[in-house]
Amino acid sequence: MSDVKIIAVTGATGAQGGGVVNMLKKTAGWRVRAITRKPESEAAKKLAADGLVEVVRADFDDEESLVRAFEGAAAVFAVTNWWEALFSGKSQWEAGEIEERHGMNLARAAARTPTLEHYLWSTQPSAKRRLPGRLETPHMDYKANVDDRIKAELPDLARKTTYLYFGYYPQNMAYFPLLKPFQLPGNGQYVQLLATDPEAKILLAGDMSINPGIWVRQALATGAPAFGRYANVALERWSFRQMMDKWSEITGKRGVVVQVTEEAWTRLWGPAGTELAWQFKFGELCDPWAVRDDFISPEELGIGPDEVVGFEGTIKGLASLGLFD
Ligand SMILES: NC(=O)c1ccc[n+]([C@@H]2O[C@H](COP(=O)([O-])OP(=O)(O)OC[C@H]3O[C@@H](n4cnc5c(N)ncnc54)[C@H](OP(=O)(O)O)[C@@H]3O)[C@@H](O)[C@H]2O)c1
Repeated sequence: MSDVKIIAVTGATGAQGGGVVNMLKKTAGWRVRAITRKPESEAAKKLAADGLVEVVRADFDDEESLVRAFEGAAAVFAVTNWWEALFSGKSQWEAGEIEERHGMNLARAAARTPTLEHYLWSTQPSAKRRLPGRLETPHMDYKANVDDRIKAELPDLARKTTYLYFGYYPQNMAYFPLLKPFQLPGNGQYVQLLATDPEAKILLAGDMSINPGIWVRQALATGAPAFGRYANVALERWSFRQMMDKWSEITGKRGVVVQVTEEAWTRLWGPAGTELAWQFKFGELCDPWAVRDDFISPEELGIGPDEVVGFEGTIKGLASLGLFD
């Protein structure tokens, strides 16, 4: 079975890694090793249930555990979770420092894996770099610090790294409390309170259970031309109003996006509200996901609209599961 390669997938019990696992376990030539802190969790047991996925314990805080988990892997998909530290009470910047430490532990462990051919790092553009002195977005800035440090400190790894920019998940409208439409008492209509202009556009990742795996599978198939390059994991850019209109059409519920100030959103949601308000401001002041010379396009990766599931398909899927009832 030497022609079958191992991909170690971090965040495998979550949205991005879960999407990668779904696709790669069905991709000829690859075997998936799912990384989690808790192999005994329900989510991890579900991954192992069909016998196609090996589940291995490791923690981003423990580089040696990652080195062991990556042993023999030809590819690693790496994603860190800034929000977990924020929701456990850390400040936006403390959560960023933890995220950068995790990102570098992952990168160093990958660099120490002699069998590694391709590293896929989930990152974000940074407001601090694009708009210096004007705006920060810690959950994006510290990921971008890791990009710079991979290039500066781990040049051999950088030569086999593809950097992935995931867009906004449509699933946020079902699962993320700040972004989920709620029903107004009185007239029964739905409201999404957002600290942004409803006409502002944002890159959309589409269906997270499918699309991450398409980009990773295609980046792996592309190989060297994808090394050192960035890819937007998205084919759509929609405004928040467009999303709400489509959500209304699909669910049959009338929804309106209402803009609130950053201050009001912070009072409602604390630092999570501030952080997202800053991300949305980033998107109003410039196009954070504008294509640069170091980007690889979906066409070059062999990705087309037929396979990718966009905003509409995702919301239809979530509605069919009763998530908006
Ligand atoms: N929501 C959006 O629209 C959006 C868009 C673009 C990018 N992002 C970024 O996506 C990232 C999160 O990815 P996601 O949405 O896939 O996360 P998620 O669904 O919340 O899952 C988090 C995953 O990270 C793993 N994890 C967290 N800390 C770990 C640690 N110390 N060691 C090992 N594994 C750890 C968890 O594994 P176990 O719990 O099983 O150990 C879990 O699989 C965030 O940094 C966010 O900024 C979000």
